[in-house]
Amino acid sequence: MKPPVPVAVFASGGGTNLQALLDHEPVSGEYRVAMVLSDREGAAALERGLSVGRDAYVIETDARSLTDVGRQMLERLADHDVQVILLAGYLKMIPPAVVAAYERRILNIHPAPLPSFGGKGMYGPRVHEAVLASGVEVTGVTVHYVDEDYDTGSIVAQVSVPVRPRDDVASLAARVLKVEHQLYPAVADHVCRAVAEGVEPSPFDVTHFDFAPVTSHPQTDHSKSIEETERT
Ligand code: GRF
Repeated sequence: MKPPVPVAVFASGGGTNLQALLDHEPVSGEYRVAMVLSDREGAAALERGLSVGRDAYVIETDARSLTDVGRQMLERLADHDVQVILLAGYLKMIPPAVVAAYERRILNIHPAPLPSFGGKGMYGPRVHEAVLASGVEVTGVTVHYVDEDYDTGSIVAQVSVPVRPRDDVASLAARVLKVEHQLYPAVADHVCRAVAEGVEPSPFDVTHFDFAPVTSHPQTDHSKSIEETERT
């Protein structure tokens, strides 16, 4: 059996998607979260990683050049032989040197059907506010490759999530987050399996993606979800 692919999870907030990835890790054995990285000292995601014995780092980005930040990130990633980076509510721009070193090896999850409701400034509750204001009956979750801009990389997987007539931002965000927690580990498996085999990942077939029924019940730990992001 092939060893799991070492991955890094970058997160700025609560890290419920990181938790879903950690929980799924032993189920598939396709990846192992080798390190967690944040731009914020107090990010709850760091504690989630540390509590299960993973290395966790803060790389500050304020008042630093992307070149400097990128150099430090690449050192940490090399220390852990990271093959794939999973952004899970990471706030900041990924430095060009990291994007170049991990071309089509960086994924991001976005709580809406990109290219709608994405881009700089579309973060946290704003995404769901925009969805509700638009009057659409269906929103979604997108996993995409990361390039040097916000939410513009090619899409790897996208699933729909219904908007219900009585939804508010909290109920919609909770329903979407529940789907994120199922989709992201499945896509991580898919991409890491291909990386382990040395092939380019094929498009992720969502028709074989068996996600649990979506309900309108809010997540019990939703308070730990991200409060403020620039990249969502
Ligand atoms: C998620 O909604 C994700 O789609 C977005 O940021 C949020 C992170 O939530 N990129 P969490 O920190 O994983 O709870």
